[in-house]
Amino acid sequence: MLDLKDVGTTYGAVPMLRDVTMSVRAGELVCLLGPNGAGKTTTFMTVCGVVRAQRGAVEVMGKNLATIGTENLAALGVGLVPEGRRLFPSLTVIENLRLGYDAVSGGRPNFEAQLDKMSSLFPRIRERLRQAAGTLSGGEQAMVALARALIGEPKFVVMDEPSLGLSPKLIGEYFEITQEIHRRGTTVLLIEQNAEMGLSIADRGYVLIKGRVAQEGPAKELLSSKAAKSLYL
Ligand SMILES: Nc1ncnc2c1ncn2[C@@H]1O[C@H](COP(=O)(O)OP(=O)(O)OP(=O)(O)O)[C@@H](O)[C@H]1O
Ligand SMILES: [Mg+2]
Repeated sequence: MLDLKDVGTTYGAVPMLRDVTMSVRAGELVCLLGPNGAGKTTTFMTVCGVVRAQRGAVEVMGKNLATIGTENLAALGVGLVPEGRRLFPSLTVIENLRLGYDAVSGGRPNFEAQLDKMSSLFPRIRERLRQAAGTLSGGEQAMVALARALIGEPKFVVMDEPSLGLSPKLIGEYFEITQEIHRRGTTVLLIEQNAEMGLSIADRGYVLIKGRVAQEGPAKELLSSKAAKSLYL
């Protein structure tokens, strides 16, 4: 689903990602961990082609990202949940979801059926479908941002710190939903700062420090590894 090979990204003259090699295979839930400023969002932006990799290669869904274009990712089956939710605040919840649905063309059940599915997966937003997204609580907005990515039935979802700012109870709910969509067969790349939470539901993990992959491995090994802990805790 995703292959980064020796990816290097610079902001102006400042190198950010250095020799980042990572992959996500079909069916996996992979967690990308790292402290503030490690380059996690830069990796997210590189995966969606918003930030261009100056070195190395990025393949998404088996295709060279440079030949795809960000605007075609949804149609290829990639759902994106950007940092900070990025909803359209003056549009209603339904209108925000409609945009996610329309970005994916063909081969889906109709919008109403998908809306029903999202309402049962996210009971918290069921009663708020006609409310302006900007007036939702932070937790509700986080759910809408994920529903918007899922409504087109993507094969692969990439999430950038979706649990940021949520209460412990809502974080738990959010992780349960993430686990549930993974169980249903969706491949997930979850960018997280909460290593314990992220690794507890992941198959594998990568720890990014100062733009480099400092550690990687099965989630269980990272959870119990002292070296990994000293890196990110
Ligand atoms: N457009 C930009 N121009 C210059 N520097 C940038 C730009 N975007 C990000 N950076 C810098 O690159 C570094 C990595 O940022 P990035 O957003 O990838 O970190 P992050 O791991 O997502 O952190 P956080 O956990 O705080 O979200 C930071 O020092 C940031 O200031
Ligand atoms: Mg970030």
